[in-house]
Amino acid sequence: MSAIRYELGADQILTLTIDMPGQSANTMNAAFRDALTDTVDKVKADLGNLSGIVITSAKKTFFAGGDLNELHKVTRDHSEQFEAMVNGLKASMRALETCGKPVVAAINGSALGGGLEIALACHHRIALDDDKVQLGLPEVTLGLLPGGGGTQRLPRMIGLEAAFSYLMEGKKVNPKAALKAGIVDELAGSVEELIEKAKAFIVANPASQQPWDKKGFKLPGGAPHHPAMAQKLAIAPAMLKQKTKGCYPAPERILSAAVEGCQVDFDNGSLIETRYFTELVVGQVAKNMTGTFWFQLNAIKAGGSRPDGVERETFKKVAVLGAGMMGAGIAYATASRGIEVVLKDVSVDNAEKGKHYSEALLAKKVSRKRMTEEQKAQVLNRIKATDSTADLEGCDLVIEAVFEDSGLKAKVTQEAEPRLVDNGIFASNTSTIPISQLAEASSKPENFIGLHFFSPVDKMQLVEIIVGAKTSDETLARAFDYVLQIGKIPIVVNDSRGFFTSRVFGTFVNEGIAMLAEGIHPASIENAGMMAGMPVGPLAISDEVSLTLMQHIRAQSKKDTEAAGGTWAPHPAEAIIDQMVNEQGRKGKASGAGFYEYPNKGKKHLWPQLEALFVDQAKARGVQLQDLKDRILFIQALETVRCLEEGVLRSIEDANIGSIFGIGYAPWTGGAIQFINQYGVREFAQRAEELAQQYGDRFAPPALLLEKAESGSTFA
Ligand code: NAI
Repeated sequence: MSAIRYELGADQILTLTIDMPGQSANTMNAAFRDALTDTVDKVKADLGNLSGIVITSAKKTFFAGGDLNELHKVTRDHSEQFEAMVNGLKASMRALETCGKPVVAAINGSALGGGLEIALACHHRIALDDDKVQLGLPEVTLGLLPGGGGTQRLPRMIGLEAAFSYLMEGKKVNPKAALKAGIVDELAGSVEELIEKAKAFIVANPASQQPWDKKGFKLPGGAPHHPAMAQKLAIAPAMLKQKTKGCYPAPERILSAAVEGCQVDFDNGSLIETRYFTELVVGQVAKNMTGTFWFQLNAIKAGGSRPDGVERETFKKVAVLGAGMMGAGIAYATASRGIEVVLKDVSVDNAEKGKHYSEALLAKKVSRKRMTEEQKAQVLNRIKATDSTADLEGCDLVIEAVFEDSGLKAKVTQEAEPRLVDNGIFASNTSTIPISQLAEASSKPENFIGLHFFSPVDKMQLVEIIVGAKTSDETLARAFDYVLQIGKIPIVVNDSRGFFTSRVFGTFVNEGIAMLAEGIHPASIENAGMMAGMPVGPLAISDEVSLTLMQHIRAQSKKDTEAAGGTWAPHPAEAIIDQMVNEQGRKGKASGAGFYEYPNKGKKHLWPQLEALFVDQAKARGVQLQDLKDRILFIQALETVRCLEEGVLRSIEDANIGSIFGIGYAPWTGGAIQFINQYGVREFAQRAEELAQQYGDRFAPPALLLEKAESGSTFA
């Protein structure tokens, strides 16, 4: 069966329905390419009998885009074949575009990436007016480029400047917004209307040609050499670099492809695009990002870390204990996914305050027209703010987010458990206390688990599920279901102090502060952090966390280490933190002063006194940027290996995804373990040895790393 159905109607209109056999969505793979080549041949033969062509899809979505399975395998050795293959596919699209008959895209569902590119190659685009339908070119988010003509057609259609956010940021829009932006030409209320309108266009426009194929075509908004545009384009690379810090080749290549391509005719522009596309496809950053953000993330969402054999659960009523910052966020995340929530605090007033947090977030959505008043009321009605334990009756799941105090946590556990349904789950959102220790207060430790959310809960997608010593597989599987039910990403880790994310995060901030202790300039430290690809510098994030909390966590860890008979090895960051808090009274952002100053008016900036207090000018001048960047990425990757070695982490996928979504580990790397793989495991181990000699034992390669390096294997 061909991937493209060919139906020539009595009205001489040809309908091409893309329906790839054995796939739930249409993708641009070998089967599609073959079908398209055949289709073009048939169209050429039938041209005399045709009045026009409608392209649509038999799937729920119009077309899903490039085939990542295929792209992921292309290596540098195959660049030439790959380039020829892409140019061949584009030639088929171009043949339809220039066949002289009107071609209309009847976009019956989402058209992303290659899907939208097919539509852009048509003379007219009509989309089904459904807010769930998404249109866009998200390739950049996987380190790629819209290589099916997207970087050429979209700028020629809506102008370079207007196209940039779609091309370089992967902006997606619904059909209404696409109409406004000029990406589609018409909307239709139903699939039938879609086809009717498509046919009507063909009847009314017997000869269609793309604007860029007409004589005298002018690029909307000005061609690159137009003085006003040239001025903007002169600064565009610098502005882009400010955002990418040079870590992401994709947006840079997209900018080049679009601007260079728009200075020549369409066909040459298309060749330029393919060159840049090929370079990205075979490059390491696209491999890192596609591997993690596509394959590994999908594996996680498909239940890779969920124990088998447990029936999937749908939660109906969830209690959240503690309506503070975290509890309020968890209540919002849960209620907005259709689950009843009981939000309990010590007083109704406190609980209402927590509920108000949801109200404020929902009101913002309403004001941005992303939600109706009615939908807002529905979500709010699902949250019951209370101070009464009796209201917990019949909950399937309780999530505790009271103060970080094991005594208090034990008390609320014992109060809540009897109210749960049979086999209900009790989860703690503790950030530091071992789950097995908290489970001691539980009458059913097999149903006790950690659900570690990140702040702010409405924005942070990750939930770290912590399995205690006695937590059952069934409880884990069901907790996993809850996390997916609220649309978040679950990773599963075994119990350990700091679990996985907090442990690795700690190494990041401590390394930055240790650099300050060595006399390195704070601005160099912050810049190195961001140039390595971290979203914020280590000193800025330390202020966010608060230096006093860091002291508190350290004191607790030290106490526990010593109680277990170990010796505490002080980190060079500790003295700086103590000096900042105890001598300078600078505790972090919440108290208005930390490594940064927080003026009432204007932007925060590094505290100027840091220089006099800590900077060693000679050292600061002699420092190597690469060393600073390596230290920041290596120290976290090494701690991640230790987490794997100790069995805290259970999978590579969880390590990579958890490091990016929980800690902000440089996304270009594909995560803390993929960073090692792509660096070369042996080379990474050697560099770690070097760093250990220069900066301390904390960089010494763990046994698991040495083992992999010696055997020449990677982490898989
Ligand atoms: P918070 O101080 O904002 O809120 C705690 C709330 O618990 C307060 O509203 C308090 O009135 C309430 N509470 C106290 N006793 C209670 C009781 N017996 N019954 C019901 N409610 C009671 O604290 P936050 O930041 O929301 O943290 C809560 C938990 O989440 C802590 O265990 C914390 O370690 C953990 N966590 C915090 C993160 C953060 O970024 N703040 C991140 C991840 C976890």
